Amino acid sequence: MQTREVIERVLQKITPTDEERTFIEDLMRELRDIAKETIKTLGLDVKPYFVGSLAKDTYLAGDHDVDLFLAFPLKTPLKELQERGLELGKVIAGKLDSYEIAYAEHPYVRARYKSVKVDIVPCYNVESWEQVRTAVDRSILHNRWVLENLKGRNDEVRLLKRFLKGINAYGSEIYVRGFSGYLAEILIIKYGSFLDVLENAHFMLRQKIIDPANWLRRAHEITMRTIKREADRPLIVIDPVDPRRNVAANLSWERYGVFYFKARQFLEKPSEEFFFPVEKKTGSYFVELKRKGTHLITLIFQKPEVVDDVLIPQLERSARGFEKALSREGFKVLGWNVGYTGGKAFIMLEVDRREREKVTIKPGPELYTQRAQDFYEKNERVWLIGKRLYAEKRVKENIVHVIIELLEKNQVSIGKNIRDEVKEAEILVNFVPSWLGNEAYLFLSREKWNLKN
Ligand code: UTP
Ligand code: MN
Repeated sequence: MQTREVIERVLQKITPTDEERTFIEDLMRELRDIAKETIKTLGLDVKPYFVGSLAKDTYLAGDHDVDLFLAFPLKTPLKELQERGLELGKVIAGKLDSYEIAYAEHPYVRARYKSVKVDIVPCYNVESWEQVRTAVDRSILHNRWVLENLKGRNDEVRLLKRFLKGINAYGSEIYVRGFSGYLAEILIIKYGSFLDVLENAHFMLRQKIIDPANWLRRAHEITMRTIKREADRPLIVIDPVDPRRNVAANLSWERYGVFYFKARQFLEKPSEEFFFPVEKKTGSYFVELKRKGTHLITLIFQKPEVVDDVLIPQLERSARGFEKALSREGFKVLGWNVGYTGGKAFIMLEVDRREREKVTIKPGPELYTQRAQDFYEKNERVWLIGKRLYAEKRVKENIVHVIIELLEKNQVSIGKNIRDEVKEAEILVNFVPSWLGNEAYLFLSREKWNLKN
């Protein structure tokens, strides 16, 4: 299929219809009126702003999250902003369908209205980056910058976002570490179109620094400080509204790398599947284990009630903890995989063997030292290699027993929100329950991360 044809087809699916647009516009108008009226009744000096992709018209069809920001005057003390902001948010949300309190840097209200999620977030009414005080203050500036610079290329943003979603590289959340919506917008503004961004995937990486608002000239020192701080990242995109910030600060090498390979693949052989992937092919994890001659250890435990932003990094850290601890014990970890389904979390480890030798050789002190006599007394068989004493040490041979012992002795570094749960984990060898079968296959075959499919 021709590139143009693919793009047309995708656009049909991701561009909001007139009907949808009208619904959104009416919804925002209604919300604005409710907010304004509430602010007036409470006698507050607050300005409501819409930010995010709805306000910029860069949302994907069917994907509506309203971000309603309540901008307080700069002179408001932070504590007052937080308290008043939350109160105001609650009163506004009380006029909608339902709401709950959510927590970020400060608490905010997450409401629902006509089946649309509405985040009501207090912030400062900043005019420039020097006035930014909380993490969310920049959003109003981002919104303004994108509206001024996008110049009708909204559909190009939609294409890029959908492409990034399709290849699993969209979202700046810590558990994705991909491209944020704002980063996608900046890339379109900088390079012109969806295809131009793909064609520049290699150049971007070589150049590394993208500075669309010319901060290097306008505030050289501050910008250089950002560049030095972010030197290890795949991209440094100086925020057009704040030279202290790298918009791509949360973009991992893996997510950029996936984009890099997929961009080339798409240009060579365009297809809709990049945007709307079909389910990955499945197979038998058991056949994989046989083929590779490796073993699969799976820990299954209760998933604690924490958000993904907390849970996923802790699962990853724990998997690396097991990798380290087991390699100290003589097991080689070829790879790991973590995740959760429903109320259960899991850590999978692919290892070279399930049994090790029954002894290890333990090096002791040098023969003329104080501790040498002790070592000689304590061990059954003792011998010398050069001037050092050696002895045999009996150890657990089965990997499950080794893991249990490591956990008992706190010798595995584990995320603190899952520590108790991991200690109670069920440990399975070369077998997983059916709800994990496909996950085990995707992991062992590496289809989960394979760039070539
Ligand atoms: P969103 O993540 O909702 O992005 O953040 P979005 O542009 O609305 O895109 P989609 O369509 O919902 O996915 C809302 C605003 O928060 C700021 C940006 O200003 C963005 O417009 N933000 C969010 C960032 O600056 N960086 C981030 O990593 C996330
Ligand atoms: Mn959004």
